[in-house]
Amino acid sequence: MSATRHLQILALLLLLGGGAALQLRNMLVPATFGEIGTYRAAALGTNAAHPLTFPSDARCLKCHEDVQEERVESLHTVVRCVHCHGFGAEHITQATAVEVDSSVTIASAQDWDHHFPTKVDLFITYDRATCLACHQATVGMPDSFLQINVAEHLEDQGAEDVEDVNVCFECHTGHSPGL
Ligand code: HEC
Ligand code: HEC
Ligand code: HEC
Ligand code: HEC
Repeated sequence: MSATRHLQILALLLLLGGGAALQLRNMLVPATFGEIGTYRAAALGTNAAHPLTFPSDARCLKCHEDVQEERVESLHTVVRCVHCHGFGAEHITQATAVEVDSSVTIASAQDWDHHFPTKVDLFITYDRATCLACHQATVGMPDSFLQINVAEHLEDQGAEDVEDVNVCFECHTGHSPGL
C-alpha cells in the first residue's frame, strides 16, 4: 500500500515538473521561432530593415557612368569602388537628396585615414598602401595575380620620388592603371 503511495507522489511530481518545464519553455522561446527553421522567422525582416552600408558598384555607377567608361577596358573593372573611395553611404544620401532639393550640398571627398576598416565615408586615396594591399608580392599569393616587388619595380620603371606614399600615381591611374 505505502509502496504505491510513493509511486503516486513520484508520478504527480513528474507531471507537475514536466508541466512547469513546458510552461517555462513556452515563455522563453520567442515568437515566430521555428516557423521556417531553427531560428526566429521575424529575424529575417529585422535584418532586411537595416540600412545598406555596403554599396554595390552598380549603385555608384548609376550617377557615375563616365567612370565606367574609363574602367571598362581596364583589368581594374573587377576592383570595387569601395577599396579606393569608402562606403559612400552619406555621399549617396546627399547626392540623392540634391536631386529634389538643390540647397543640399554634396561634401567633398576626404583624405583616406590609412585604415582599411575606414570610418571615412567618402575619400580618394593616392596612397600606395591601397594598391599594395592587392599587388605587393607575397608568399602564397597565386601567380596569376599581378604582383610587384615595390623597390625593384620603382627602380626598374625609374620612379622620381621613391619615398613618396603617392608614388604609384606618377605613372598609373586608379580607374585604368594599365599603360
Ligand atoms: C584602384 C582605386 C580606384 C578604384 C577601384 C575606383 N577609383 Fe574612383 N578614383 C580613384 C582615384 C585615384 C581618383 C582621383 C583621380 C584623379 O584625380 O586623377 C578617383 C576619382 C574618382 C571620381 C572623381 C573624379 C573622376 O574621375 O570622375 C569619381 C566620381 C570616382 N572616382 C568614382 C569611382 C567609382 C564609381 C568607382 C567604382 C565603379 C571607382 N571610382 C573606383 C581611384 C579609384
Ligand atoms: C545619386 C547620385 C550619386 C550616387 C549614387 C553616387 N554619387 Fe558620387 N557624386 C555624385 C555627384 C552629383 C558628385 C559631385 C560631382 C561634382 O561635384 O562634379 C559626386 C562626386 C563623387 C566623387 C568626387 C568627390 C570629390 O570631392 O571630388 C567621388 C569620388 C564619388 N562621387 C564617388 C562615389 C562612389 C564611390 C559612389 C558609390 C558608393 C557614389 N559616388 C555614388 C553623385 C552620386
Ligand atoms: C582590391 C584589389 C586591388 C587594388 C586595391 C588595386 N588593384 Fe590593381 N589590379 C587588381 C586586379 C585583380 C587586377 C587584374 C589582374 C590580376 O588579376 O592581378 C589589377 C590590375 C592592375 C594593373 C595591370 C593593368 C593592366 O591593364 O595591365 C596595374 C598596373 C594595377 N592593377 C595597378 C594598381 C594601382 C596603381 C593600384 C592603386 C591605385 C591598384 N592597382 C589597386 C586588383 C587591385
Ligand atoms: C615610374 C613609373 C611607375 C611607377 C612609379 C609605378 N609603376 Fe607600376 N608599372 C609601370 C610600367 C611602365 C608598367 C608596365 C611594365 C610591364 O608591362 O612590364 C607597370 C606595371 C605595373 C603592374 C603590373 C605588373 C605586371 O606584372 O604586369 C602593377 C601591378 C603595378 N605596376 C603596380 C604599381 C604600384 C602598386 C606602384 C606604386 C607602388 C607602381 N606600380 C609604380 C610604371 C610605374
